[in-house]
Amino acid sequence: MTQVAQGRAIGSLQDFAITRLDNEQLIGGIGFAIGDSGVDASLGYWIARPLWGLGYAREALRRVVAYAFDELAPPLDRLEAHVHRENPSSLRVLDACGFTDCGCEKIPACGLDGITVAHRYELHRGARKVG
Ligand SMILES: CC(C)(COP(=O)(O)OP(=O)(O)OC[C@H]1O[C@@H](n2cnc3c(N)ncnc32)[C@H](O)[C@@H]1OP(=O)(O)O)[C@@H](O)C(=O)NCCC(=O)NCCS
Repeated sequence: MTQVAQGRAIGSLQDFAITRLDNEQLIGGIGFAIGDSGVDASLGYWIARPLWGLGYAREALRRVVAYAFDELAPPLDRLEAHVHRENPSSLRVLDACGFTDCGCEKIPACGLDGITVAHRYELHRGARKVG
Protein backbone atom coordinates (compact mmCIF):
# COMPACT_ATOMS: atom_id res chain seq x y z
CA MET A 1 0.00 0.00 0.00
CA THR A 2 1.34 3.46 -0.83
CA GLN A 3 1.62 6.24 1.73
CA VAL A 4 -1.21 8.06 -0.08
CA ALA A 5 -3.50 5.01 -0.02
CA GLN A 6 -2.67 4.40 3.63
CA GLY A 7 -3.40 8.04 4.49
CA ARG A 8 -6.75 7.83 2.71
CA ALA A 9 -7.61 4.57 4.47
CA ILE A 10 -7.02 5.96 7.95
CA GLY A 11 -8.45 9.41 7.16
CA SER A 12 -5.25 11.42 7.70
CA LEU A 13 -5.25 12.30 3.99
CA GLN A 14 -8.50 13.75 2.70
CA ASP A 15 -8.57 14.75 -0.93
CA PHE A 16 -11.41 15.78 -3.18
CA ALA A 17 -12.11 16.20 -6.86
CA ILE A 18 -13.23 19.68 -7.91
CA THR A 19 -15.99 19.32 -10.49
CA ARG A 20 -18.26 21.78 -12.25
CA LEU A 21 -21.83 21.80 -11.01
CA ASP A 22 -23.35 22.10 -14.49
CA ASN A 23 -21.61 19.20 -16.23
CA GLU A 24 -19.63 17.37 -13.50
CA GLN A 25 -16.41 17.93 -15.46
CA LEU A 26 -13.29 17.29 -13.37
CA ILE A 27 -11.44 20.60 -13.21
CA GLY A 28 -9.10 20.23 -10.25
CA GLY A 29 -8.28 18.76 -6.90
CA ILE A 30 -7.95 19.89 -3.31
CA GLY A 31 -7.02 18.13 -0.11
CA PHE A 32 -5.24 18.17 3.18
CA ALA A 33 -2.98 15.93 5.22
CA ILE A 34 -3.65 15.88 8.95
CA GLY A 35 -0.56 16.01 11.13
CA ASP A 36 0.30 13.91 14.16
CA SER A 37 -1.52 16.32 16.47
CA GLY A 38 -4.79 15.38 14.77
CA VAL A 39 -5.95 19.00 14.69
CA ASP A 40 -3.54 20.62 12.22
CA ALA A 41 -3.48 19.95 8.50
CA SER A 42 -1.50 20.99 5.45
CA LEU A 43 -3.41 21.92 2.29
CA GLY A 44 -2.79 21.57 -1.42
CA TYR A 45 -4.91 22.35 -4.48
CA TRP A 46 -4.82 22.76 -8.24
CA ILE A 47 -7.11 23.85 -11.06
CA ALA A 48 -6.79 22.87 -14.74
CA ARG A 49 -4.83 25.63 -16.45
CA PRO A 50 -7.43 26.69 -19.08
CA LEU A 51 -9.79 27.48 -16.19
CA TRP A 52 -7.50 29.63 -14.08
CA GLY A 53 -8.82 32.99 -12.95
CA LEU A 54 -12.50 32.03 -12.82
CA GLY A 55 -12.76 31.75 -9.05
CA TYR A 56 -12.83 27.95 -8.86
CA ALA A 57 -9.92 27.58 -6.41
CA ARG A 58 -11.34 30.18 -4.06
CA GLU A 59 -14.76 28.50 -4.11
CA ALA A 60 -13.23 25.06 -3.51
CA LEU A 61 -11.01 26.29 -0.69
CA ARG A 62 -13.93 27.99 1.06
CA ARG A 63 -15.86 24.73 0.90
CA VAL A 64 -12.95 22.69 2.27
CA VAL A 65 -12.38 25.18 5.10
CA ALA A 66 -16.04 24.82 6.10
CA TYR A 67 -15.74 21.04 5.93
CA ALA A 68 -12.55 20.92 8.01
CA PHE A 69 -13.76 23.31 10.71
CA ASP A 70 -17.51 22.63 10.83
CA GLU A 71 -18.21 19.13 9.53
CA LEU A 72 -15.19 16.96 10.22
CA ALA A 73 -15.38 15.08 13.52
CA PRO A 74 -13.35 15.94 15.43
CA PRO A 75 -12.87 19.27 13.66
CA LEU A 76 -9.46 20.65 12.77
CA ASP A 77 -8.10 23.67 14.65
CA ARG A 78 -5.67 24.93 12.03
CA LEU A 79 -5.10 24.70 8.29
CA GLU A 80 -1.87 25.74 6.61
CA ALA A 81 -0.50 25.99 3.10
CA HIS A 82 2.98 26.69 1.81
CA VAL A 83 3.13 28.96 -1.22
CA HIS A 84 5.97 30.41 -3.23
CA ARG A 85 6.03 34.17 -3.64
CA GLU A 86 6.15 33.61 -7.42
CA ASN A 87 2.61 32.13 -7.24
CA PRO A 88 0.51 35.30 -6.83
CA SER A 89 -2.80 33.69 -7.71
CA SER A 90 -2.43 31.12 -4.93
CA LEU A 91 -1.42 33.85 -2.48
CA ARG A 92 -4.54 35.72 -3.55
CA VAL A 93 -6.77 32.66 -3.07
CA LEU A 94 -5.48 32.12 0.47
CA ASP A 95 -5.80 35.79 1.29
CA ALA A 96 -9.39 35.88 -0.01
CA CYS A 97 -10.24 32.86 2.18
CA GLY A 98 -8.94 34.58 5.32
CA PHE A 99 -5.55 32.89 5.65
CA THR A 100 -2.73 34.89 7.23
CA ASP A 101 0.83 35.13 5.95
CA CYS A 102 3.08 33.82 8.74
CA GLY A 103 6.30 34.54 6.87
CA CYS A 104 8.84 32.51 4.95
CA GLU A 105 10.24 29.20 6.01
CA LYS A 106 12.34 26.40 4.56
CA ILE A 107 10.45 23.29 3.51
CA PRO A 108 11.42 20.09 1.69
CA ALA A 109 11.42 20.71 -2.06
CA CYS A 110 8.65 18.69 -3.69
CA GLY A 111 10.08 16.25 -6.23
CA LEU A 112 13.58 17.68 -5.78
CA ASP A 113 16.49 17.05 -3.50
CA GLY A 114 17.03 19.70 -0.89
CA ILE A 115 14.89 22.51 0.39
CA THR A 116 12.95 25.48 -0.88
CA VAL A 117 11.67 28.67 0.73
CA ALA A 118 7.94 29.35 0.81
CA HIS A 119 5.39 31.47 2.65
CA ARG A 120 3.39 29.64 5.30
CA TYR A 121 -0.23 30.75 5.27
CA GLU A 122 -2.52 29.59 8.02
CA LEU A 123 -6.09 29.87 9.24
CA HIS A 124 -7.30 29.00 12.75
CA ARG A 125 -10.83 27.76 13.31
CA GLY A 126 -11.52 30.39 15.94
CA ALA A 127 -10.09 33.23 13.86
CA ARG A 128 -12.02 32.76 10.67
CA LYS A 129 -14.67 35.20 9.54
CA VAL A 130 -17.85 33.37 8.62
CA GLY A 131 -20.00 34.76 5.82
C1 LIG B 1 -3.20 28.55 -7.72
C2 LIG B 1 -4.42 28.07 -8.49
C3 LIG B 1 -5.03 26.86 -7.80
C4 LIG B 1 -5.45 29.21 -8.55
O1 LIG B 1 -6.65 28.70 -9.15
P1 LIG B 1 -7.74 29.67 -9.77
O2 LIG B 1 -9.01 28.90 -9.93
O3 LIG B 1 -7.19 30.35 -10.96
O4 LIG B 1 -7.92 30.74 -8.60
P2 LIG B 1 -9.09 31.80 -8.47
O5 LIG B 1 -9.63 32.10 -9.82
O6 LIG B 1 -10.04 31.32 -7.41
O7 LIG B 1 -8.35 33.07 -7.86
C5 LIG B 1 -7.15 33.55 -8.46
C6 LIG B 1 -6.90 34.94 -7.93
O8 LIG B 1 -5.57 35.34 -8.24
C7 LIG B 1 -5.62 36.52 -9.00
N1 LIG B 1 -4.47 36.47 -9.91
C8 LIG B 1 -4.31 35.71 -11.02
N2 LIG B 1 -3.10 35.95 -11.56
C9 LIG B 1 -2.50 36.88 -10.78
C10 LIG B 1 -1.26 37.55 -10.81
N3 LIG B 1 -0.37 37.31 -11.78
N4 LIG B 1 -0.99 38.45 -9.84
C11 LIG B 1 -1.86 38.69 -8.84
N5 LIG B 1 -3.07 38.07 -8.74
C12 LIG B 1 -3.37 37.19 -9.72
C13 LIG B 1 -6.96 36.50 -9.69
O9 LIG B 1 -7.33 37.80 -10.10
C14 LIG B 1 -7.82 35.96 -8.57
O10 LIG B 1 -8.05 36.94 -7.58
P3 LIG B 1 -9.48 37.69 -7.51
O11 LIG B 1 -10.53 36.64 -7.46
O12 LIG B 1 -9.40 38.50 -6.27
O13 LIG B 1 -9.57 38.52 -8.75
C15 LIG B 1 -4.04 27.67 -9.94
O14 LIG B 1 -3.32 28.72 -10.51
C16 LIG B 1 -3.19 26.39 -10.01
O15 LIG B 1 -3.73 25.28 -10.08
N6 LIG B 1 -1.86 26.56 -10.00
C17 LIG B 1 -0.95 25.37 -10.04
C18 LIG B 1 -0.98 24.59 -8.73
C19 LIG B 1 -0.71 25.48 -7.54
O16 LIG B 1 0.07 26.43 -7.62
N7 LIG B 1 -1.39 25.16 -6.44
C20 LIG B 1 -1.24 25.89 -5.20
C21 LIG B 1 -0.04 25.42 -4.46
S1 LIG B 1 0.13 26.34 -2.95
